[in-house]
Amino acid sequence: MPDSGKHLLFVEDEAPLRLAIAEQLSDHGFIVDQAGSGEAALERLAEFAYDIIVADLRLPGIHGSAVVEAAVARYPDIIAIVVTGFGTVKDAVEAIKRGAWDFVSKPFQIDELLHVLNSAIEQRRLKSENAYLRAQLDARYRFEGLIGKSRAMTHLLQLLETVAPTNSTILITGETGTGKEVVARAIHHNSPRRAHRFVALNCGAIPEALLEAELFGHVRGAFTGAVGNRQGRLEQAHKGTLFLDEVGTMSPALQMKLLRVLQEREFERVGDSHTIRVDVRVIAATNSDLRRMVADGAFREDLFYRLNVIPVQLPALRERKEDIPLLVQHFLAKFAAGDSPARAPITVSQEAMRHLMAYSWPGNVRQLENAIERAVALGGGRPQIEVADLPPEVQVADEPALAAAIPLPEEGLDLEQLIAGIERELIRRSLERTGGNKGRAAKLLHMKRTTLVEKLKRLERSSL
Ligand SMILES: Nc1ncnc2c1ncn2[C@@H]1O[C@H](COP(=O)(O)OP(=O)(O)OP(=O)(O)O)[C@@H](O)[C@H]1O
Ligand SMILES: [Mg+2]
Repeated sequence: MPDSGKHLLFVEDEAPLRLAIAEQLSDHGFIVDQAGSGEAALERLAEFAYDIIVADLRLPGIHGSAVVEAAVARYPDIIAIVVTGFGTVKDAVEAIKRGAWDFVSKPFQIDELLHVLNSAIEQRRLKSENAYLRAQLDARYRFEGLIGKSRAMTHLLQLLETVAPTNSTILITGETGTGKEVVARAIHHNSPRRAHRFVALNCGAIPEALLEAELFGHVRGAFTGAVGNRQGRLEQAHKGTLFLDEVGTMSPALQMKLLRVLQEREFERVGDSHTIRVDVRVIAATNSDLRRMVADGAFREDLFYRLNVIPVQLPALRERKEDIPLLVQHFLAKFAAGDSPARAPITVSQEAMRHLMAYSWPGNVRQLENAIERAVALGGGRPQIEVADLPPEVQVADEPALAAAIPLPEEGLDLEQLIAGIERELIRRSLERTGGNKGRAAKLLHMKRTTLVEKLKRLERSSL
């Protein structure tokens, strides 16, 4: 990788100075992004795992040392250099306390900065960091094991805090692996029902014929094999929470019975006429589009509204990639915990982190968790996880590096045309590889077959 270790964010509010230094750094092989304020720097840092940040301490708005602190908290492996004015060494010391590696004072020659940068890179290389110690996860961001401080997650946590203590029925939706079950458990544990049981029932995993008895219980002789009386999950969850996972898979008959439970909190065991009353809070989850199923007649509309009292929508991981570094630290701590405690914590190289952030994670947090577990195992005790330890599909995800390789000519370029060209080429290659099989080609490109077919039509039309 030619650009490994060279992605640099330069934060300086004086535009002429910033442009001049950025240009000189580029001449020396760095790939430089610029930010004119602390706020802009924080935005860039949320999106991209830089190797190095060079920040002026005196910025309008957020102070440079706060930017450094945020950068290091997010990326323990980043090299932070601060620029101080008029030899104010006290500020520099303060910044170093907050995690900066070194400082240069203004005015400086480019050579001074290069010297500081190169020696930092060198030292960093020699001494494989235990900086993760500094970045202990902040308990404030956690709601019973729910990691994330992106805007989407912050909103979610606020919503959970508000609704957890109530008795309202909640419908959690989200793609596979986004944490629907973790959220359901967190709600229960933050509710007054926490002393009672959290009972989970995966409606999709139990054969239709058994699901009813599982939910409502049965009496002896209710059906072949019903040898005794048995409590259903509803009764088990009395005073607690019942979690109905994959609720979209329920048959129409069962949907009807569930509707009655939600309306009246009463039901009968299978084969019995005695009515049982329960006090349960229901949380349902689904990764199918229930609204759509209602429109198609596959799901009862009245049940949908009974379940969807409080909708909780979990964002896909690719929509909150700024949470990836935090989640990675969380899972590293989890999977390295079995190792000898005396050993330095395992870290992830910034280059590997860039790949982790560039990948689209169709399996969301669960897939990320598996990738980290695998990387820790493959690392075989090495202190740092490298790109080669990541799953193959993550290794090839490196859009920023790819984009960096595209020249941006003086006169500019037609972005849409360029992207259309890239699209055409990748579609051509995937069809070539699959011998023209559109289904498999679509899979290679992580899209639906119908989407691929549409794109092909459009490409044919545009090339006429
Ligand atoms: N915000 C999060 N913080 C920490 N771990 C998380 C978070 N979200 C999900 N996980 C972890 O990811 C894994 C998948 O979560 P979960 O089983 O809740 O997903 P799900 O949405 O129910 O998926 P599915 O639809 O496939 O059932 C779990 O191991 C869980 O601990
Ligand atoms: Mg689940």
